[in-house]
Amino acid sequence: MKIVKVNLEYASYPIFIGENIFPKLEELIASSKLYKNLFFVVDKNVYKQFSKYIKKIFYKHDEKKYFYKFCAIEKNKSYDELKKIHSKLLEKRFGRDTLLISVGGGITCDLSGFAASTYMRGVQLIHIPTTLIAMVDSSIGGKTGINFELYKNMVGTFYQPKLVLCDIDFISTLSNREMISGCGELIKYAFITSKHFYEKINDKLPAIISKNKIALSDIIYNSVQFKASIVNMDENEKGLRKVLNFGHTFAHAFEKESKNKISHGEAVTVGIVCALFLSNRKKLISNDALKKYLELTGKLKINKSIFKVDPEQIYKIMFTDKKNLDEKISLVLLKDIGELVLDVHASKAEIIWAINSAIENLNLHHKYS
Ligand code: GLY
Repeated sequence: MKIVKVNLEYASYPIFIGENIFPKLEELIASSKLYKNLFFVVDKNVYKQFSKYIKKIFYKHDEKKYFYKFCAIEKNKSYDELKKIHSKLLEKRFGRDTLLISVGGGITCDLSGFAASTYMRGVQLIHIPTTLIAMVDSSIGGKTGINFELYKNMVGTFYQPKLVLCDIDFISTLSNREMISGCGELIKYAFITSKHFYEKINDKLPAIISKNKIALSDIIYNSVQFKASIVNMDENEKGLRKVLNFGHTFAHAFEKESKNKISHGEAVTVGIVCALFLSNRKKLISNDALKKYLELTGKLKINKSIFKVDPEQIYKIMFTDKKNLDEKISLVLLKDIGELVLDVHASKAEIIWAINSAIENLNLHHKYS
């Protein structure tokens, strides 16, 4: 089992990564001296597949425990679902000595984190991410939230968990589409981390998509190390943490415009392709570099719904992004691998051009792959 630490002034916590480590959870709760009144928020699909396993592990747990199941779709990352969680916590008389444990993907992490951060002004939280995207991104760094009027993560908090446990065995049941989605955030790390990591991801992408455990364990560990290092330096996204938003302003607009037919990770890949075209147009990266980088993004086959979106609508939605400043769309662009330019503004013509170029490029990869 590998351990990465998030070290913040008021909240430091370990992230455990390994195979078959979920059975250690009860022991980790005890050794971390966390509360033992457990309120699990579990993705229904995960519960269907793993309930016997989860219940067996907590069979002897003497204190209170409750399993709250919900359908983990973007539509349910909402006030309604948040209210249901809070109501259940109250109904079952969970108090301030609650340990809320989220078990699921990114949607589950974000919603449960927000529920934990707001119930009785905050109860303890643990994340058990079960998808690749949640292991490398959503469960780390304390971002929580719900969608509001279909705008992504518009209402939320920064709230750090007490620990995160990434058991790679959960990945074994994921669909190919869920793996492609997770790879969207991985290729983000390829661009924002280092040339060495870029090459590693480029080489290992097929092994990751086919769920090779050695490749997964290695890549998840490196991604978590990198994300933790960024969060350690800029927890509340005042500056440096913005690099983690590479491609995301485009991505959130694609998710909304496709009515969530494309997943977050797929949208991140599309968003990165848009950002690469725009970086080239702004003369930050050369034509050769653009061509090389598009070979990496082209390895991920994105759901065809993206070819139906209206670029004008994407542009309009991008205006409402919470990362904008002074009512201007604020973007993260690439100068070189590991070298990002923050808070770049672009004209409407440039943005629409980048969106059209990205759609055309991904369409080509779709046709000929
Ligand atoms: N997902 C981006 C961040 O955690 O900052």
